[in-house]
Amino acid sequence: MSHAIPATQKALFIEAPKGDWVVRSHSVPTPSAGEVLVRVEAAALNPLDWKVHDWDIIIPEYPALIGSESAGIVVALGDGVDNVKVGDRVQVTVFATLHQAEMNTRAAAFQQYTIAPASWVIKVPPNISLDQAASIPAAVNTASVGLYTSQSPGAGVGLVAPWNGGSGKYAGQPLLVIGGSSAVGQVALQFAKLSGFSPIITLVSPSNNSLVTSLGATHTIDRHQPLSTLADSVNKITSKPLTVVFDAISTAETQISGYNVLGDGGTLLTLLPITVKDEERIPGKSILNLQGGASFHPEHFKGLYAHLSDYLETGVVKPNRIEVNPGGLAGVPDGLDRLRMGQISGHKLVVRPQETA
Ligand SMILES: NC(=O)c1ccc[n+]([C@@H]2O[C@H](COP(=O)([O-])OP(=O)(O)OC[C@H]3O[C@@H](n4cnc5c(N)ncnc54)[C@H](OP(=O)(O)O)[C@@H]3O)[C@@H](O)[C@H]2O)c1
Repeated sequence: MSHAIPATQKALFIEAPKGDWVVRSHSVPTPSAGEVLVRVEAAALNPLDWKVHDWDIIIPEYPALIGSESAGIVVALGDGVDNVKVGDRVQVTVFATLHQAEMNTRAAAFQQYTIAPASWVIKVPPNISLDQAASIPAAVNTASVGLYTSQSPGAGVGLVAPWNGGSGKYAGQPLLVIGGSSAVGQVALQFAKLSGFSPIITLVSPSNNSLVTSLGATHTIDRHQPLSTLADSVNKITSKPLTVVFDAISTAETQISGYNVLGDGGTLLTLLPITVKDEERIPGKSILNLQGGASFHPEHFKGLYAHLSDYLETGVVKPNRIEVNPGGLAGVPDGLDRLRMGQISGHKLVVRPQETA
C-alpha cells in the first residue's frame, strides 16, 4: 500500500499566548530515527487543551500546535523502526512526548500529519475505530499510572499490574473512584475490576449509572449529594477501610472529601495539584498527584503497551464513548468551549482533521 505524502497540510495554530485559533497551511514533518509519521484520522479533545490555551502553560513558543492524543495511519517510518509498518492503524499518545513539561509541537494532535516516537505508538485492533482509538491514550495512561506505578515522579500506589500477574490480586478490597464517568475515571474503574477490587464504588451523576456499572463499578453514589455525606454513603456499602481513593476530578472539594474517607494508611490519588492543606493532613494517610505522561514512567509503559492492543481487542479495556465534533480541525475551539463549560458527560469529543475544509 502506498501513501502519498503532501508537502503541506492543514494545522490548527494558537497564534499568540491566549490568542486566536487559526487553521492554516503548515509543512508536513519528516520522521527522524525512531519516529513514525502518522496521517491523523481522529484527534481527541482533552481538558488539558483548553487549559494550555487559556492559561498559557506548557507551550514553549508561538505560533503553537497542541493536541494530546490521536489515531491514524502510519505513512512513513524513520530509520530503525520495526514495531509498525506503513499502512498500520495506530493510536498515538502525545502525552508521551510531554518532556520537561513542554509540549512537543511537532507531535501535536491538531494537525493532519503528526510525528510520534515509535515506542509510544500502539496498533489499533480491528474492533476499535480510529475515532475510538484517539480517545484512549490519555485516559489509559493516567489511570494505569495511578494504580500500577511507584517511585517515578508523578507515580501512583504501585499495585502489581495485571500484565505482571496482578489480575484479581486485590479481591475483597474496596476502592473508590470519584468521577467514574470521566474519561480517566472510566478506565480507572476497568483496571480496578481487572485487579479484583470489590466493592468498586464511584461518584457519578445518576444518568451515568448504567455506563459505570458496565465498566466495573459495583456501587454508585450520586455526585450531586453533599460531599459531607460521602463517608456515610461509603459506610453503607462497605465496612472495610478504603486503601485507595482515585480522585479523577480533583477539585478542592473532592480532594478533601476523598482524603477524609480514606482508611488508615490509605492513599488519595489526584489528577490536579494537591489542595489538601498541611493542617488537614492525618499521619499515615498519603496523597499522590499523578503525571500520566509516558515519558515519566518508561518501564511501566513498555509493559502496558505490550498488552494494550490485546486488552482492547478482548474488551478487557473499553474505550470511552465518543462524539465526533463536525468541521474537522475548525471544530476544536467549539468542542473545547463545551469541555471548559463542563457540558461533556460520560464521553469524549473527537475531531477528524482530514475533514477540515
Ligand atoms: N495529571 C494528569 O496526568 C491528567 C491526565 C488526564 C486528565 N487530567 C485532568 O483530570 C481532569 C479530568 O479529565 P478527564 O478528561 O477525565 O475529564 P472529563 O471526561 O472531561 O470530565 C467530565 C466528567 O467529569 C464528571 N464530573 C465533573 N465534576 C464532577 C464531580 N464533582 N464529581 C464527580 N464527577 C464529576 C462528569 O460526570 P457526570 O456527567 O457523571 O456528572 C463528566 O462525566 C481534568 O482536570 C484534566 O485536566 C490530568
